[in-house]
Amino acid sequence: MILVTGGAGYIGSHTCVELLQAGQAVTVVDNFCNSQAESLLRVERITGKTLTVIRADIRDRAAMEQALRSSGAQAVIHFAGLKAVGESVENPLAYYDNNVGGTVSLLQAMQACGVKTLVFSSSATVYGDPQRLPLQEDHPLSATNPYGTSKLVIENMLRDLHRSDADWRISILRYFNPVGAHASGLIGEDPQGTPNNLLPYVAQVAVGARTHVNVWGNDYATPDGTGVRDYIHVVDLALGHLKALERLRQHAECRAINLGTGTGYSVLDMLRAFEQASGRPVPYQIAGRRAGDIAACYADPAQAAQLLGWRAERDLQAMCQDAWRWQSGNPQGYRSDTSNA
Ligand code: NAD
Ligand code: WQD
Repeated sequence: MILVTGGAGYIGSHTCVELLQAGQAVTVVDNFCNSQAESLLRVERITGKTLTVIRADIRDRAAMEQALRSSGAQAVIHFAGLKAVGESVENPLAYYDNNVGGTVSLLQAMQACGVKTLVFSSSATVYGDPQRLPLQEDHPLSATNPYGTSKLVIENMLRDLHRSDADWRISILRYFNPVGAHASGLIGEDPQGTPNNLLPYVAQVAVGARTHVNVWGNDYATPDGTGVRDYIHVVDLALGHLKALERLRQHAECRAINLGTGTGYSVLDMLRAFEQASGRPVPYQIAGRRAGDIAACYADPAQAAQLLGWRAERDLQAMCQDAWRWQSGNPQGYRSDTSNA
Protein backbone atom coordinates (compact mmCIF):
# COMPACT_ATOMS: atom_id res chain seq x y z
CA MET A 1 0.00 0.00 0.00
CA ILE A 2 1.33 3.42 -0.99
CA LEU A 3 0.07 6.60 0.67
CA VAL A 4 0.05 9.51 -1.80
CA THR A 5 -0.19 13.02 -0.34
CA GLY A 6 -1.54 15.56 -2.81
CA GLY A 7 -2.71 12.66 -4.99
CA ALA A 8 -5.64 14.61 -6.45
CA GLY A 9 -3.32 17.21 -8.00
CA TYR A 10 -1.72 17.34 -11.41
CA ILE A 11 1.32 15.10 -10.94
CA GLY A 12 -0.25 13.09 -8.12
CA SER A 13 -3.27 11.99 -10.17
CA HIS A 14 -1.05 10.80 -13.03
CA THR A 15 1.13 8.91 -10.57
CA CYS A 16 -1.94 7.26 -9.01
CA VAL A 17 -2.88 5.94 -12.47
CA GLU A 18 0.54 4.37 -12.95
CA LEU A 19 0.60 2.92 -9.41
CA LEU A 20 -2.83 1.34 -9.82
CA GLN A 21 -1.95 0.01 -13.26
CA ALA A 22 1.17 -1.56 -11.76
CA GLY A 23 -1.04 -3.39 -9.24
CA GLN A 24 -0.29 -1.18 -6.21
CA ALA A 25 -2.98 -0.35 -3.68
CA VAL A 26 -3.23 3.43 -3.18
CA THR A 27 -4.55 5.73 -0.46
CA VAL A 28 -4.68 9.44 -1.28
CA VAL A 29 -4.55 12.17 1.35
CA ASP A 30 -5.51 15.58 -0.01
CA ASN A 31 -7.17 18.70 1.40
CA PHE A 32 -8.28 19.72 -2.13
CA CYS A 33 -6.93 23.26 -1.73
CA ASN A 34 -5.74 23.15 -5.34
CA SER A 35 -7.61 20.20 -6.86
CA GLN A 36 -10.98 18.59 -7.41
CA ALA A 37 -12.18 15.20 -6.18
CA GLU A 38 -13.30 14.62 -9.79
CA SER A 39 -9.68 13.96 -10.76
CA LEU A 40 -9.62 10.85 -8.59
CA LEU A 41 -12.93 9.58 -9.99
CA ARG A 42 -11.30 9.85 -13.39
CA VAL A 43 -8.21 8.00 -12.17
CA GLU A 44 -10.56 5.18 -11.21
CA ARG A 45 -12.27 5.38 -14.60
CA ILE A 46 -8.97 5.17 -16.50
CA THR A 47 -7.69 2.23 -14.49
CA GLY A 48 -10.93 0.38 -13.70
CA LYS A 49 -9.61 0.18 -10.13
CA THR A 50 -10.52 1.91 -6.89
CA LEU A 51 -8.42 3.87 -4.45
CA THR A 52 -9.06 5.15 -0.95
CA VAL A 53 -9.42 8.90 -0.51
CA ILE A 54 -8.91 10.67 2.81
CA ARG A 55 -9.73 14.38 2.94
CA ALA A 56 -7.14 15.71 5.37
CA ASP A 57 -4.41 18.30 5.71
CA ILE A 58 -0.84 17.05 6.02
CA ARG A 59 -0.31 19.64 8.76
CA ASP A 60 -2.75 17.65 10.91
CA ARG A 61 -0.31 15.17 12.40
CA ALA A 62 -2.97 13.10 14.16
CA ALA A 63 -4.91 12.74 10.91
CA MET A 64 -1.71 11.68 9.13
CA GLU A 65 -0.98 9.02 11.76
CA GLN A 66 -4.54 7.81 11.43
CA ALA A 67 -4.20 7.69 7.63
CA LEU A 68 -0.91 5.77 7.82
CA ARG A 69 -2.32 3.26 10.34
CA SER A 70 -5.69 2.72 8.67
CA SER A 71 -4.15 2.30 5.23
CA GLY A 72 -1.27 0.08 6.33
CA ALA A 73 0.99 2.12 4.05
CA GLN A 74 4.57 0.88 3.56
CA ALA A 75 5.73 4.01 1.75
CA VAL A 76 4.68 7.58 1.10
CA ILE A 77 4.89 9.61 -2.10
CA HIS A 78 4.67 13.21 -0.97
CA PHE A 79 3.27 15.65 -3.55
CA ALA A 80 1.18 17.85 -1.26
CA GLY A 81 2.34 21.45 -1.29
CA LEU A 82 1.78 24.90 -2.70
CA LYS A 83 3.68 25.67 -5.89
CA ALA A 84 3.02 29.18 -7.22
CA VAL A 85 6.27 31.16 -7.22
CA GLY A 86 4.66 34.64 -7.34
CA GLU A 87 2.19 33.77 -4.58
CA SER A 88 5.09 32.56 -2.43
CA VAL A 89 6.71 35.99 -2.72
CA GLU A 90 3.40 37.66 -1.70
CA ASN A 91 2.66 35.25 1.13
CA PRO A 92 5.84 33.48 2.23
CA LEU A 93 4.44 32.31 5.57
CA ALA A 94 1.74 30.30 3.81
CA TYR A 95 4.51 28.49 1.89
CA TYR A 96 6.67 27.80 4.93
CA ASP A 97 3.62 26.71 6.91
CA ASN A 98 2.14 24.45 4.25
CA ASN A 99 5.27 23.08 2.56
CA VAL A 100 7.80 22.99 5.40
CA GLY A 101 5.38 22.71 8.34
CA GLY A 102 3.27 20.14 6.47
CA THR A 103 6.32 18.03 5.69
CA VAL A 104 7.53 18.14 9.32
CA SER A 105 4.11 16.96 10.45
CA LEU A 106 4.06 14.19 7.83
CA LEU A 107 7.56 13.00 8.77
CA GLN A 108 6.67 12.97 12.48
CA ALA A 109 3.60 10.89 11.74
CA MET A 110 5.65 8.51 9.58
CA GLN A 111 8.26 8.17 12.32
CA ALA A 112 5.58 7.45 14.91
CA CYS A 113 4.10 4.75 12.68
CA GLY A 114 7.46 3.24 11.67
CA VAL A 115 6.93 4.08 7.97
CA LYS A 116 10.35 5.25 6.78
CA THR A 117 10.19 5.15 3.00
CA LEU A 118 9.52 8.44 1.23
CA VAL A 119 9.57 9.81 -2.30
CA PHE A 120 9.57 13.61 -2.22
CA SER A 121 8.64 16.10 -4.96
CA SER A 122 11.49 18.55 -5.23
CA SER A 123 12.17 20.85 -8.13
CA ALA A 124 14.91 22.05 -10.45
CA THR A 125 14.27 25.42 -8.82
CA VAL A 126 16.72 24.30 -6.05
CA TYR A 127 19.57 24.84 -8.53
CA GLY A 128 18.84 28.59 -8.62
CA ASP A 129 20.40 30.37 -11.60
CA PRO A 130 22.48 27.59 -13.23
CA GLN A 131 26.25 28.05 -13.19
CA ARG A 132 26.68 25.27 -15.76
CA LEU A 133 24.41 23.21 -17.99
CA PRO A 134 23.19 20.52 -18.13
CA LEU A 135 22.36 20.47 -14.43
CA GLN A 136 23.88 17.62 -12.49
CA GLU A 137 22.70 16.69 -9.01
CA ASP A 138 25.91 17.99 -7.40
CA HIS A 139 25.41 21.51 -8.79
CA PRO A 140 25.34 24.05 -5.89
CA LEU A 141 21.88 24.62 -4.46
CA SER A 142 20.22 27.98 -3.91
CA ALA A 143 16.81 29.57 -3.99
CA THR A 144 15.51 32.78 -5.48
CA ASN A 145 12.02 32.84 -3.96
CA PRO A 146 10.18 31.45 -0.88
CA TYR A 147 8.73 28.52 -2.85
CA GLY A 148 12.25 27.46 -3.84
CA THR A 149 13.51 28.00 -0.30
CA SER A 150 10.73 25.78 1.03
CA LYS A 151 11.93 22.94 -1.27
CA LEU A 152 15.53 23.52 -0.26
CA VAL A 153 14.68 23.51 3.47
CA ILE A 154 12.76 20.26 3.04
CA GLU A 155 15.63 18.67 1.10
CA ASN A 156 18.04 19.63 3.90
CA MET A 157 15.63 18.33 6.51
CA LEU A 158 15.42 14.99 4.72
CA ARG A 159 19.20 14.70 4.51
CA ASP A 160 19.45 15.48 8.25
CA LEU A 161 16.77 12.93 9.04
CA HIS A 162 18.59 10.21 7.13
CA ARG A 163 21.87 11.13 8.84
CA SER A 164 20.17 10.75 12.22
CA ASP A 165 18.53 7.41 11.39
CA ALA A 166 19.91 5.34 8.53
CA ASP A 167 16.71 3.26 8.35
CA TRP A 168 15.06 6.03 6.38
CA ARG A 169 14.84 5.41 2.63
CA ILE A 170 14.35 8.71 0.82
CA SER A 171 14.26 9.63 -2.82
CA ILE A 172 14.31 13.36 -3.58
CA LEU A 173 13.09 13.79 -7.14
CA ARG A 174 13.96 17.10 -8.77
CA TYR A 175 11.41 17.68 -11.49
CA PHE A 176 12.15 19.93 -14.43
CA ASN A 177 9.06 21.36 -16.22
CA PRO A 178 6.16 18.89 -16.13
CA VAL A 179 3.67 19.28 -19.00
CA GLY A 180 1.14 17.23 -20.95
CA ALA A 181 -1.61 14.98 -19.74
CA HIS A 182 -2.69 11.35 -19.68
CA ALA A 183 -3.26 10.03 -23.21
CA SER A 184 -6.93 9.30 -22.37
CA GLY A 185 -7.60 13.05 -22.14
CA LEU A 186 -9.45 12.42 -18.87
CA ILE A 187 -6.94 13.92 -16.45
CA GLY A 188 -4.57 16.84 -16.83
CA GLU A 189 -3.41 20.12 -15.36
CA ASP A 190 -6.29 22.26 -14.08
CA PRO A 191 -4.91 25.61 -12.92
CA GLN A 192 -7.18 27.90 -10.91
CA GLY A 193 -7.47 31.37 -12.48
CA THR A 194 -4.76 32.65 -14.80
CA PRO A 195 -2.13 29.96 -15.41
CA ASN A 196 1.40 30.87 -14.25
CA ASN A 197 3.08 28.21 -16.35
CA LEU A 198 3.65 28.42 -20.07
CA LEU A 199 1.94 25.31 -21.44
CA PRO A 200 -1.43 25.66 -19.68
CA TYR A 201 -1.49 29.30 -20.79
CA VAL A 202 -0.69 28.34 -24.39
CA ALA A 203 -3.42 25.68 -24.29
CA GLN A 204 -5.98 28.26 -23.14
CA VAL A 205 -4.97 30.57 -26.00
CA ALA A 206 -5.31 27.72 -28.53
CA VAL A 207 -8.78 26.85 -27.23
CA GLY A 208 -9.83 30.51 -27.54
CA ALA A 209 -10.17 31.32 -23.83
CA ARG A 210 -7.33 33.88 -24.02
CA THR A 211 -6.23 36.14 -26.86
CA HIS A 212 -2.45 35.69 -26.95
CA VAL A 213 0.60 34.52 -25.07
CA ASN A 214 2.94 37.08 -23.52
CA VAL A 215 6.45 35.88 -24.22
CA TRP A 216 8.46 37.01 -21.20
CA GLY A 217 11.59 38.32 -22.89
CA ASN A 218 13.39 37.62 -26.19
CA ASP A 219 16.78 39.02 -25.20
CA TYR A 220 18.19 36.07 -23.27
CA ALA A 221 21.46 34.44 -24.31
CA THR A 222 19.64 31.52 -25.92
CA PRO A 223 19.36 30.51 -29.61
CA ASP A 224 16.19 32.57 -30.27
CA GLY A 225 16.43 34.88 -27.23
CA THR A 226 13.49 33.29 -25.36
CA GLY A 227 13.77 31.17 -22.21
CA VAL A 228 14.83 27.54 -22.57
CA ARG A 229 13.44 24.78 -20.33
CA ASP A 230 13.45 21.01 -20.01
CA TYR A 231 9.79 20.10 -20.52
CA ILE A 232 8.94 16.59 -19.39
CA HIS A 233 5.75 14.62 -20.06
CA VAL A 234 3.83 14.13 -16.82
CA VAL A 235 3.34 10.41 -17.52
CA ASP A 236 7.12 9.93 -17.84
CA LEU A 237 7.47 11.85 -14.58
CA ALA A 238 4.85 9.63 -12.90
CA LEU A 239 6.70 6.51 -14.02
CA GLY A 240 9.89 7.89 -12.45
CA HIS A 241 8.18 7.67 -9.05
CA LEU A 242 7.51 3.96 -9.48
CA LYS A 243 11.17 3.44 -10.37
CA ALA A 244 12.24 5.44 -7.32
CA LEU A 245 10.07 3.26 -5.06
CA GLU A 246 11.57 0.16 -6.64
CA ARG A 247 15.08 1.39 -5.91
CA LEU A 248 14.23 2.22 -2.29
CA ARG A 249 13.22 -1.41 -1.72
CA GLN A 250 16.91 -2.29 -2.24
CA HIS A 251 18.67 0.82 -0.89
CA ALA A 252 18.43 2.58 2.49
CA GLU A 253 19.69 5.93 1.22
CA CYS A 254 18.74 9.57 0.87
CA ARG A 255 19.50 10.67 -2.67
CA ALA A 256 18.44 13.47 -5.00
CA ILE A 257 17.75 12.53 -8.62
CA ASN A 258 16.85 14.75 -11.58
CA LEU A 259 13.76 13.86 -13.58
CA GLY A 260 14.11 15.65 -16.89
CA THR A 261 14.66 14.78 -20.54
CA GLY A 262 18.04 16.48 -20.99
CA THR A 263 16.72 18.56 -23.90
CA GLY A 264 15.89 22.25 -23.71
CA TYR A 265 13.20 23.95 -25.79
CA SER A 266 12.60 27.68 -26.09
CA VAL A 267 9.29 29.45 -25.57
CA LEU A 268 8.96 29.92 -29.35
CA ASP A 269 9.71 26.21 -29.94
CA MET A 270 6.84 25.43 -27.57
CA LEU A 271 4.42 27.79 -29.32
CA ARG A 272 5.20 26.25 -32.71
CA ALA A 273 4.90 22.70 -31.39
CA PHE A 274 1.55 23.51 -29.80
CA GLU A 275 0.21 25.09 -32.97
CA GLN A 276 1.17 21.97 -34.87
CA ALA A 277 -0.38 19.60 -32.32
CA SER A 278 -3.62 21.56 -31.98
CA GLY A 279 -4.02 22.83 -35.54
CA ARG A 280 -4.88 26.19 -33.95
CA PRO A 281 -2.99 29.46 -34.11
CA VAL A 282 -1.24 30.61 -30.95
CA PRO A 283 -0.77 34.39 -31.30
CA TYR A 284 1.89 35.93 -29.11
CA GLN A 285 3.44 39.26 -28.15
CA ILE A 286 6.95 39.82 -26.91
CA ALA A 287 6.79 41.32 -23.43
CA GLY A 288 9.45 42.25 -20.89
CA ARG A 289 11.31 39.66 -18.84
CA ARG A 290 9.41 38.15 -15.90
CA ALA A 291 11.09 38.94 -12.55
CA GLY A 292 13.15 36.05 -11.25
CA ASP A 293 13.26 34.12 -14.56
CA ILE A 294 16.46 32.46 -15.73
CA ALA A 295 17.67 32.11 -19.31
CA ALA A 296 18.02 28.35 -19.56
CA CYS A 297 17.57 25.25 -17.45
CA TYR A 298 17.86 21.60 -18.44
CA ALA A 299 18.82 18.38 -16.77
CA ASP A 300 21.57 15.90 -17.04
CA PRO A 301 19.31 12.86 -16.70
CA ALA A 302 22.20 10.33 -16.53
CA GLN A 303 21.76 9.49 -12.84
CA ALA A 304 18.12 8.60 -13.29
CA ALA A 305 19.06 6.32 -16.18
CA GLN A 306 21.87 4.68 -14.26
CA LEU A 307 20.29 4.35 -10.81
CA LEU A 308 16.60 4.02 -11.63
CA GLY A 309 16.72 2.53 -15.11
CA TRP A 310 14.42 5.39 -16.09
CA ARG A 311 14.45 7.79 -19.00
CA ALA A 312 11.80 10.06 -20.47
CA GLU A 313 10.25 8.47 -23.54
CA ARG A 314 7.54 10.87 -24.68
CA ASP A 315 8.63 13.60 -27.09
CA LEU A 316 7.54 17.22 -27.48
CA GLN A 317 4.84 16.27 -29.98
CA ALA A 318 3.28 13.82 -27.50
CA MET A 319 3.47 16.44 -24.71
CA CYS A 320 1.58 18.99 -26.83
CA GLN A 321 -0.90 16.51 -28.33
CA ASP A 322 -1.82 15.12 -24.93
CA ALA A 323 -2.08 18.60 -23.39
CA TRP A 324 -4.35 19.60 -26.27
CA ARG A 325 -6.57 16.50 -25.95
CA TRP A 326 -7.09 17.33 -22.26
CA GLN A 327 -7.62 21.07 -22.85
CA SER A 328 -9.99 20.73 -25.81
CA GLY A 329 -12.02 17.96 -24.13
CA ASN A 330 -12.19 19.83 -20.82
CA PRO A 331 -12.09 23.56 -21.63
CA GLN A 332 -13.02 24.43 -18.01
CA GLY A 333 -10.85 21.67 -16.52
CA TYR A 334 -12.64 19.41 -14.05
CA ARG A 335 -15.48 21.94 -13.84
CA SER A 336 -16.38 21.32 -17.50
CA ASP A 337 -19.61 19.49 -18.30
CA THR A 338 -18.43 15.92 -17.85
CA SER A 339 -21.51 14.18 -19.22
CA ASN A 340 -19.82 13.50 -22.56
CA ALA A 341 -16.24 13.32 -21.32
P1 NAD B 1 -0.94 20.48 -7.58
O1 NAD B 1 -1.26 21.75 -6.88
O2 NAD B 1 -1.73 20.12 -8.77
O3 NAD B 1 -1.04 19.27 -6.52
C1 NAD B 1 -0.74 19.42 -5.16
C2 NAD B 1 -1.86 18.74 -4.36
O4 NAD B 1 -1.56 18.86 -2.98
C3 NAD B 1 -3.22 19.38 -4.60
O5 NAD B 1 -4.17 18.36 -4.84
C4 NAD B 1 -3.51 20.09 -3.28
O6 NAD B 1 -4.88 20.15 -3.00
C5 NAD B 1 -2.74 19.24 -2.29
N1 NAD B 1 -2.31 19.92 -1.07
C6 NAD B 1 -1.64 21.10 -0.96
N2 NAD B 1 -1.41 21.40 0.32
C7 NAD B 1 -1.93 20.38 1.05
C8 NAD B 1 -2.02 20.10 2.45
N3 NAD B 1 -1.52 20.96 3.35
N4 NAD B 1 -2.61 18.97 2.85
C9 NAD B 1 -3.12 18.09 1.94
N5 NAD B 1 -3.08 18.31 0.61
C10 NAD B 1 -2.50 19.44 0.17
O7 NAD B 1 0.62 20.51 -7.91
P2 NAD B 1 1.48 19.52 -8.82
O8 NAD B 1 1.89 20.26 -10.03
O9 NAD B 1 0.82 18.21 -8.94
O10 NAD B 1 2.78 19.42 -7.90
C11 NAD B 1 2.98 18.34 -7.00
C12 NAD B 1 4.28 18.55 -6.25
O11 NAD B 1 5.35 18.65 -7.20
C13 NAD B 1 4.33 19.84 -5.42
O12 NAD B 1 5.02 19.58 -4.23
C14 NAD B 1 5.14 20.78 -6.30
O13 NAD B 1 5.82 21.75 -5.54
C15 NAD B 1 6.09 19.82 -6.97
N6 NAD B 1 6.61 20.33 -8.27
C16 NAD B 1 5.71 20.71 -9.22
C17 NAD B 1 6.19 21.22 -10.44
C18 NAD B 1 5.24 21.70 -11.50
O14 NAD B 1 5.67 22.49 -12.34
N7 NAD B 1 3.99 21.25 -11.53
C19 NAD B 1 7.57 21.29 -10.66
C20 NAD B 1 8.43 20.86 -9.66
C21 NAD B 1 7.93 20.38 -8.46
C1 WQD C 1 8.62 28.52 -18.74
C2 WQD C 1 9.17 29.54 -19.74
C3 WQD C 1 8.95 31.82 -19.02
C4 WQD C 1 4.56 31.88 -19.11
C5 WQD C 1 8.20 27.27 -12.84
C6 WQD C 1 8.73 27.34 -11.44
C7 WQD C 1 9.52 26.09 -11.12
C8 WQD C 1 8.69 24.83 -11.42
C9 WQD C 1 8.07 24.85 -12.77
C10 WQD C 1 7.65 24.06 -9.42
C11 WQD C 1 9.96 30.67 -19.08
C12 WQD C 1 8.12 31.56 -20.25
C13 WQD C 1 5.89 31.50 -19.21
C14 WQD C 1 4.07 32.86 -20.03
C15 WQD C 1 6.25 32.97 -21.04
N1 WQD C 1 7.61 24.68 -10.52
N2 WQD C 1 6.71 32.02 -20.14
N3 WQD C 1 4.95 33.36 -20.96
O1 WQD C 1 9.44 29.45 -14.76
O2 WQD C 1 10.58 27.42 -15.80
O3 WQD C 1 9.30 27.15 -13.74
O4 WQD C 1 7.38 26.10 -12.96
O5 WQD C 1 8.60 23.63 -8.85
O6 WQD C 1 9.86 26.17 -9.79
O7 WQD C 1 9.58 28.48 -11.32
O8 WQD C 1 8.09 27.56 -15.82
O9 WQD C 1 6.11 27.44 -17.30
O10 WQD C 1 6.37 29.44 -15.76
O11 WQD C 1 7.91 29.21 -17.71
O12 WQD C 1 6.99 33.46 -21.89
O13 WQD C 1 2.91 33.26 -19.97
O14 WQD C 1 8.07 30.17 -20.40
O15 WQD C 1 9.53 33.07 -19.04
O16 WQD C 1 11.00 31.00 -19.97
P1 WQD C 1 9.43 28.00 -15.06
P2 WQD C 1 7.02 28.41 -16.63
